[in-house]
Amino acid sequence: MAILDRHKILETNATLLLVFSFLVVTIGGIVQIAPLFYLENTIEKVEGMRPYAPLELAGREIYVREGCYVCHSQMIRPMRDEVERYGHYSLAAESMYDHPFQWGSKRTGPDLARVGGKYSNEWHVAHMIDPRAVVPQSIMPGYPHLLTTPLEFTDVRAHLEANVAVGVPYSEEMLENAAADLRTQADPAADSEALLARYPKAAVDDFDDRPDELTEMDALVAYLQILGRMIDFADVRAEDLVQ
Ligand code: HEC
Repeated sequence: MAILDRHKILETNATLLLVFSFLVVTIGGIVQIAPLFYLENTIEKVEGMRPYAPLELAGREIYVREGCYVCHSQMIRPMRDEVERYGHYSLAAESMYDHPFQWGSKRTGPDLARVGGKYSNEWHVAHMIDPRAVVPQSIMPGYPHLLTTPLEFTDVRAHLEANVAVGVPYSEEMLENAAADLRTQADPAADSEALLARYPKAAVDDFDDRPDELTEMDALVAYLQILGRMIDFADVRAEDLVQ
């Protein structure tokens, strides 16, 4: 009873209540925030994560430019309905090379974090040109201009370097071969061994089936096809994922 009586002093004195509330919130804040300054890294490293290949990076920039994130998220939440629909929930490591990240905040269309490999390149191209050609009830706008717009990539090395500046570990070799790697990924006839050594699992194809021209469509589809495919979740044991 005595304690409650003493608490009454706090409850009936606005200034005192304010001072003590502030104290409690401060302590709570420190407990939450202070440990973050002592952790080397808040993102767990996961096997398989690599920087985007130059063509994928160019596609990512088109994704951002066209505002695809306005309708699509790239973050699968750890809830049963999400995991059953989209696959393994997203890990922090999966967006560690995304600058800026593409988590999104609105899902007019489905989450795209694991769309890589879900459809063929042909499907993506047909869908991007006219979504209703493959999904009759779709409300997604078409992006047919991507197929006829040549990909501008004279500055691709600078784009990789900009990513290096914010911590993406592109090696000197990757920078030197940026333009060549970009062209190789869109050319199934080229020798892609070195490209795949630098960027494992990169899909190599003439994505838009227009061998005479490297278009923005090639880049965008290359990007969509790597989403969610870098980490092999069959190799990741559930207990490794629990912090
Ligand atoms: C106005 C909202 C809107 C915008 C903007 C939009 N989408 Fe969509 N998207 C949708 C809807 C709705 C669907 C589901 C119907 C369908 O498949 O077309 C969809 C489906 C998709 C799918 C198939 C996903 C799956 O798992 O079946 C892909 C891939 C996709 N969109 C990519 C893109 C890309 C890339 C862009 C930007 C160039 C984009 N979308 C812009 C609304 C949008």
